[in-house]
Amino acid sequence: MKTSTALTQFLMEEQRQYPGSSGNFTLLFSELILAAKVISREVNKAGLINLLGATGYKNVQGEEVQKLDEYANDTIVKTMERGGHLHAMASEEIEDIIRIPDDYPKGKYLLLFDPLDGSSNIDVNISVGTIFSILRCEAKAGEKITVDDFLQPGTEQVCSGYVIYGSSTVLVYTTGHGVHGFTLDPSVGEFLLSHENIRIPEKASIYSINEANSRYWYKGTTDYVEKIKAGEDRVTTGRYVGSLVADFHRNLLKGGVFLYPIDRKATKGKLRLLYEANPLAFIAEQAGGAASTGDVRVMDIAPTELHQRTSLIIGSKNDVAEAEKCWQDAQG
Ligand code: AHG
Ligand code: MN
Ligand code: MN
Repeated sequence: MKTSTALTQFLMEEQRQYPGSSGNFTLLFSELILAAKVISREVNKAGLINLLGATGYKNVQGEEVQKLDEYANDTIVKTMERGGHLHAMASEEIEDIIRIPDDYPKGKYLLLFDPLDGSSNIDVNISVGTIFSILRCEAKAGEKITVDDFLQPGTEQVCSGYVIYGSSTVLVYTTGHGVHGFTLDPSVGEFLLSHENIRIPEKASIYSINEANSRYWYKGTTDYVEKIKAGEDRVTTGRYVGSLVADFHRNLLKGGVFLYPIDRKATKGKLRLLYEANPLAFIAEQAGGAASTGDVRVMDIAPTELHQRTSLIIGSKNDVAEAEKCWQDAQG
């Protein structure tokens, strides 16, 4: 009989390859898995338990906070704060950094997350997700942690990943040794290995961009979208869900490029560098793809703000390079 590898077993096997490792990271990840399972369960029955709709107030980004945004945020904070592996956290939904209460021990990692990505799709049963990024914390014991500790470039990530609550719940992650995907088997309550060593096709057959913004686009974006639509060397199709995790996951498996560029309306971009762009950029690169702002590699950006936004072009390597070329040519 063929048995599937559970995510926790897979992590332990990975850990064994690094004899010096303390196992703290594996324990930290196990807590994250628990939070993902709880969120998945609630997302699945949201319509039954009065978890749909808005809370009535806005977040630090000025966006409507949905009840599930808040639920997912609180689940992650409450699950992760007691483990002793984190020094602090930062969430897309919370203005300041989240400190670990004094009664719990502090660890050597920082967790950054977008608790529920694709909030506008919650009420209409379209896939949403959680995105996370783990950094090392350089603050010494006793030193007060500040926002600056979180402002590390994406290249410093120890691990990143996402959970997509779709037709099934899938967790995809990287620790810098390839990208692996696990599907939640609800009958045993475990994430089981379903996508080992994911590689993104070098050429995109799909492009994903909100075309309703085309009136605000700069020339470089328009030029690239015209080019990929014309598809001189291949046939392409357009797909845009409006949940970054869902658009990214589909493109990762099938070959695609996702663009949310700066434009005349979103002059700094829409997506968040630390909670969305960097974690997915790490996955994209580890799967053989790329992530760029058009001007620079996303993971090379030195962040200056916790909730910084960025332009994002991410996915199949050749297409990210082509979009970068159009962007740079239009400026030159
Ligand atoms: P969030 O729900 O975490 O605020 O993120 C929404 C993001 C992202 O998921 C998606 O790709 C993008 O916003 C869609 O934006 P538009 O509706 O402007 O296309
Ligand atoms: Mn998001
Ligand atoms: Mn969100």
